[in-house]
Amino acid sequence: MDIKLQINELEAQAYAELEGVASAAHLEEWRIRYLGKKSRLTEILRGLATLSIEERKTVGAVSNALKLGLEAALGQREASLRDGELALAVSKDAVDISLPGRPFARGHLHPVAQAMNEISSIFTAMGFEVMEGPGVEWDYYNFDMLNMPKEHPARAATDTFWIDAPPNDKGWKMLLRTHTSPMQVRTMERRRPPIRIVVPGLVHRYEATDATHLSMFSQIEGLAVDEGISMADLKGTLHEFARRFFGPERRVRFRCDFFPYVEPGAEMAVECAVCRGDGCRLCGGNGWIEVLGSGMVHPRVLEGVGIDSKKYSGFAFGMGIERIPLLKYGVEDIRHFYGSDLRFLRQF
Ligand code: DAH
Repeated sequence: MDIKLQINELEAQAYAELEGVASAAHLEEWRIRYLGKKSRLTEILRGLATLSIEERKTVGAVSNALKLGLEAALGQREASLRDGELALAVSKDAVDISLPGRPFARGHLHPVAQAMNEISSIFTAMGFEVMEGPGVEWDYYNFDMLNMPKEHPARAATDTFWIDAPPNDKGWKMLLRTHTSPMQVRTMERRRPPIRIVVPGLVHRYEATDATHLSMFSQIEGLAVDEGISMADLKGTLHEFARRFFGPERRVRFRCDFFPYVEPGAEMAVECAVCRGDGCRLCGGNGWIEVLGSGMVHPRVLEGVGIDSKKYSGFAFGMGIERIPLLKYGVEDIRHFYGSDLRFLRQF
């Protein structure tokens, strides 16, 4: 075939193929094929010497022009590939301001904290003040001053986490408070009636956990001391609390109970949220769940802090917080509250 024709064909082929080159590696292959040492063009250029002078001039001119043209096209293609890759890289990192924002996961208070706040605010609306006290307590406040002398069964080591520390100079021993009631004494030591306080806080009991018991839980204590306070005030206040918190349709029940620091003592129970009185696992089959202990402050407790029990009287109550959302929402197992399972916690 005529060399000039071959060159024309080569030219058409090279440019056509270059169109389809999309990567640097592909381009290198193209360079080797059309401009490399073993390429047809190099072969032609090398063979120029064997041609006649006439032919050498014309073939030399077109083949050299083709070589320059292909080299220029290679350079251009290289540059445009680089630009393309750059553009691609930029578009990957670029901020697309038209994209909708990602939703921001906003947390909320733990259901126990929510119940604590809600209960506290019901009592503050009724004129009570919120106070807090120490979680590590003296047995003096936790027991002695609440009319629980040394030999009282509630003081048995099985119920209490004692702190491994020597007693203080008055012989008081340190413990994790088993209830929020010691704050009754601490408050009455410092203040004179009228007193109306509620005390939320954590307490500890050395006991096995099950669906309705935890070894660490929260309580809220209440205390009202004034002239002329009676059992009717106790019932009225707690009934009103239950009405506001659980709703007017949930029945409540008061029954006699014993606590050394009150006389008389009473427990208040609320209709079970799960079975509504029929009996189920949550309520232990009797349809009611005890939510709080209460009573008229024992004269010995008042006298212990120097308050005249002839002139003043008071009522007190203490309720376990974890049981309250349990009752309100019908949670079947109290241990869910401290299982840290977000599927559970997110429901509140
Ligand atoms: N402290 C009691 C408990 O932990 C609850 C209680 C009962 C508190 C009667 C009181 C009360 O203030 O008067 O179970």
